[in-house]
Amino acid sequence: MAKISVIGAGNVGATTVQRLAELELGEIVMTDIVEGLPQGKALDLMQAGAIKGYDTSIIGSNDYADIADSALVIITAGIARKPGMSREDLIKTNSKIITDVSKNIAKYAPESIIMNITNPLDIITYVAMKSTGFETTKVFGMSGVLDSGRFASFIAEELKCSKKDIQAMVIGGHGDLMVPLPQYTTVSGIPLTDLLSDDKIARLVERTVNGGAEIVELLKQGSAFYAPSAAIVSMAEAVIKDSKRVLPASAYLEGQYGQEGIYFGVPVKLGASGVEEILELKLDENQYEILRKSSQAILKVISQLEV
Ligand code: APR
Repeated sequence: MAKISVIGAGNVGATTVQRLAELELGEIVMTDIVEGLPQGKALDLMQAGAIKGYDTSIIGSNDYADIADSALVIITAGIARKPGMSREDLIKTNSKIITDVSKNIAKYAPESIIMNITNPLDIITYVAMKSTGFETTKVFGMSGVLDSGRFASFIAEELKCSKKDIQAMVIGGHGDLMVPLPQYTTVSGIPLTDLLSDDKIARLVERTVNGGAEIVELLKQGSAFYAPSAAIVSMAEAVIKDSKRVLPASAYLEGQYGQEGIYFGVPVKLGASGVEEILELKLDENQYEILRKSSQAILKVISQLEV
């Protein structure tokens, strides 16, 4: 059975472990810097197995040695946003934390694939790649599946139809400059652009871009974790089952979409070796313009990082 490690036993980490355990996708190790926290949550989740009917092994630990031989390591350690904060406000603290986490992953699980969740997503994923020294294809970030899920949910609400039939696509940076793509979004194969007016689509796009902030404002402390953990698990399943799913991910670009040397949300083929292919889509001029702005902002931050 594959081993999956989740670093960070907070809201996103623990909910991810719950979903992974219920799917019996592998044996799970959950670590955190706080003593007792991962152990207590692991014990609780193990006991839930007797009621929910899963036999997944879940170990809580403060020791990175326990992540040895992981096929997949999911990083959720760090601080989350508070109202009024952008994802970028988290850079300093989270890049320090992830540099430390990454060095331990490289030491104890050098063969693993890494999925990063910690924000600001595209920048922290770059930090994880640099500080592990892993091949770029073995490190990716989860963003587009979540953003696409939010877009799909708003579309379903507007059309009063099932969420199950919606295939949405959101690419670009995981922030104010993400790029929802209505022309690649369908409802059971029917283009969204045939079903809703441009104005209505623009409203849903705007709500998608602010989807994370809307939840942060309501929660008052902390950020979303139910939809993020659902997105993480769909990507984890693609890696563990080597299913070659085509999903948006923050992947390292080397010329694709005219971008070089940054992590950025694009559609990829995801399998046991990580990002196995990057798919290039044709965009309209306005979408290219947002992508350029978004990538410039990321490049600026990356050039100031000490990794
Ligand atoms: N090593 C391991 N764990 C750490 C470290 C560290 N160096 N530093 C902090 N942590 C742990 C905290 O102890 C906490 O349990 O990371 C956990 C983070 O949990 P939450 O505060 O609940 O945050 P969460 O909502 O899970 O978000 C985590 O995901 O979506 C992103 O923006 C979000 O960057 C944030 C991350």
